[in-house]
Amino acid sequence: MSVQVDNLTKIYGSQKAVDGISFKVEPGQVLGFLGPNGAGKTTTMKILTGYIPATSGSATVAGFSVDTHPEEVRRRIGYLPEHNPLYKDMYVREYLLFVAGLHKLPQPQKRVAEMIELTGLTREQHKHIGALSKGYRQRVGLAQAMLHDPEVLILDEPTTGLDPNQLIEIRQLIKHIGAAITLIFSTHIMQEVQAICDRVLIINNGKLVADDPIGRLQERLAGDVIVTVAFAQAVPVAQLQRITGVKQVKALGDRKFQLSASPATDIRPAVFSFAVNNQQVLLEMHQETFSVEEVFQRLTQSGVTAP
Ligand SMILES: Nc1ncnc2c1ncn2[C@@H]1O[C@H](COP(=O)(O)OP(=O)(O)O)[C@@H](O)[C@H]1O
Ligand SMILES: [Mg+2]
Repeated sequence: MSVQVDNLTKIYGSQKAVDGISFKVEPGQVLGFLGPNGAGKTTTMKILTGYIPATSGSATVAGFSVDTHPEEVRRRIGYLPEHNPLYKDMYVREYLLFVAGLHKLPQPQKRVAEMIELTGLTREQHKHIGALSKGYRQRVGLAQAMLHDPEVLILDEPTTGLDPNQLIEIRQLIKHIGAAITLIFSTHIMQEVQAICDRVLIINNGKLVADDPIGRLQERLAGDVIVTVAFAQAVPVAQLQRITGVKQVKALGDRKFQLSASPATDIRPAVFSFAVNNQQVLLEMHQETFSVEEVFQRLTQSGVTAP
């Protein structure tokens, strides 16, 4: 297990920022940590990286407790904090060499060159960090976080504040990096989770409200699948009701219908055969699924708890 969190709680004064959350991350997984502002994402990540202590509960990284073996944990974890604090007066390459020195890496020049290449900083390596755009600063932050070849990489809202082009580039870079490492990244943007992760944890008010593979999360909440169909000519509802797998038919006129079915059965081939067998022309057929965004809103507004 790369990361294991049990009943983790953090209380600031009278406020529970993190309220008894538990989860595990398997080696190689890419986990999205999704939640609105103030949900407790940063607090959880700071505890995992050993920056702040938990009030209660436990967390281990690569088998080492963040409480009792913080040095072992830091050696195995790479961290890009939320506001990516960098030394703006240093040059890119100089800064990365400085970080390599802190980690006492055996071949700092070689490793820094590799990270510059991986994060696409070759042309910027001799520039002042202060002169870089936000997207390039994030690349420096990513290079910094990965220099010591950590087992687990933790990125706190790595795409916040980027313009649309930078956003796409940084997402691609994260996806590329995520293929080779255990990665946890936080975001409040749903599409990001859909684009990058294997699995999503949804956190709200310090509590986990879902822990699922992306597809399962959508299924679990979607209930029946709705397939909207339109035919060239009128079709009696009773005929549609006889199609295998169709549970209910809602007429939106005499040619357009919404058919509901369980998510386990794809009724579209049967609908297509029905049209062919009845000499009907199928003008339209599409299956509605919930986006992660809709799922997220349902979960965070209705107070549903993880099973
Ligand atoms: N140092 C702190 N002192 C007091 N309250 C804090 C502190 N840090 C965070 N909080 C509170 O804890 C809650 C969770 O914050 P945070 O973990 O930063 O959420 P997120 O990263 O999901 O936006 C928020 O309500 C925030 O105001
Ligand atoms: Mg945060």
